[in-house]
Amino acid sequence: MDKFIIEKSGPLTGEVQVGGSKNACLPLMAAALLTDQPLVLENVPDLVDVRTMTQVLENLGVRVTREPGRILLDASRVLGYRAPYDLVRQMRASYYVLGPLIARNGRAEVSLPGGCAIGQRAIDLHLKGLSMLGADIAITRGYIYTRAGRLKGCRINLSGPFGSSVGATINVMLAAVLARGVTVIDAAAREPEIEDLAGMLSAMGAGIEGAGSGTIRIKGVDHLHGASYKVIPDRIETGTLAAAAAITGGDVLINGCRPEHLQAVLDVLAEAGARIETGPERIRITSQLPLRPFSLGTEPYPGFPTDLQAQFCALATQAEGTSRVTETIFENRFMHVPELIRLGARIQVIGNTVAIEGPVKLSSAPVMASDLRASAALVLAALVADGTSEINRIYHLDRGYDQLEVKLSRLGAKILRVSA
Ligand code: EPZ
Repeated sequence: MDKFIIEKSGPLTGEVQVGGSKNACLPLMAAALLTDQPLVLENVPDLVDVRTMTQVLENLGVRVTREPGRILLDASRVLGYRAPYDLVRQMRASYYVLGPLIARNGRAEVSLPGGCAIGQRAIDLHLKGLSMLGADIAITRGYIYTRAGRLKGCRINLSGPFGSSVGATINVMLAAVLARGVTVIDAAAREPEIEDLAGMLSAMGAGIEGAGSGTIRIKGVDHLHGASYKVIPDRIETGTLAAAAAITGGDVLINGCRPEHLQAVLDVLAEAGARIETGPERIRITSQLPLRPFSLGTEPYPGFPTDLQAQFCALATQAEGTSRVTETIFENRFMHVPELIRLGARIQVIGNTVAIEGPVKLSSAPVMASDLRASAALVLAALVADGTSEINRIYHLDRGYDQLEVKLSRLGAKILRVSA
């Protein structure tokens, strides 16, 4: 099992290139199931989750050809209808095959994903949407069994107790594009990944309006065709790199990103005292320590993303005063806190808010990554911790960051991957 060995590094400086978005790429790959013609995706990151989705699709009969930065998906023969537990438990997003399988083949059997480190993560909204489109759904022996004739468009409200659901919006879109008639999704998620999916589905011949707003209107078609499409840059990787520049008092130019997807994040960085300059597809971040304290609460897009909450907890340890971070999307997304405390952070958890006192002199310790973004938070903290830190279980990080250690090294970080 690989681990990172990280030494205290000085200010990060230089230029870095952001890769394609994991959370945009996974539904785009699932969309290949909707057509018998080839789909080509460009700007595809090399991630464990992308490989897992590849396996899920291959298991269904999709031919997948991988080249550096590119993936070709050919679902001319979709023979299967089952996504087994072994794959779905590795990656919840495997359930993106539900919508397209029902829409194209009228049948899907997808394992329930099971436990997750960050919260309960219900899937009721996915099932509500698909059943309103006409799918018969039964859950038994840990599997979702669905059957349907031609789906029929309708009006679906996808608001849940924690706001809109990204995944449910995606699954319903993936099904509704081949339904008869018009589907209107109210309380749709507005994340850039939804807009990206709509962009590609439109390139495949779908009729979609309003993606990126709270109401999406989909006019179903009989067939979709192949397309070639470029995945948007990863806004969470961008935010993580920006936080790495800020926490080390660095000066970093992030290229190939979309600053407009990160406004809430850039606002918090500015509140923390960092200087932000944006241009087309780039962000320059210049910071001096100590930072200023800040407050943030996670929210659905365009609010501050939950996927950067852990990294900003690490950042707050280097701000002078008390910062407050509130998590509103997931019930249990503070698993990084005890590990940051092991590095010397002063953090108090009060319900769904943490109060972080800074600046503290962090000191190295062996720590354990509990999930993808928590791993990134530990990497950031280790960059400023005295001595040599060891971060274990970085397989979580490999699910969603493409060569993070290589990118950070080029900026001057002392970080090494060691295979145990
Ligand atoms: C997506 O997860 C992302 N995953 C997550 O990124 C991200 O944290 C999350 O959206 C929020 O932005 C992918 O894109 C693959 P949701 P998703 O459905 O779709 C509740 C990362 O680190 N809910 O928007 O699963 C749910 O429990 C990952 O890259 C229901 O109640 O998130 C949560 O509290 C982690 N019923 C809230 O809604 C449902 O049917 C938002 O979840 C579905 C969700």
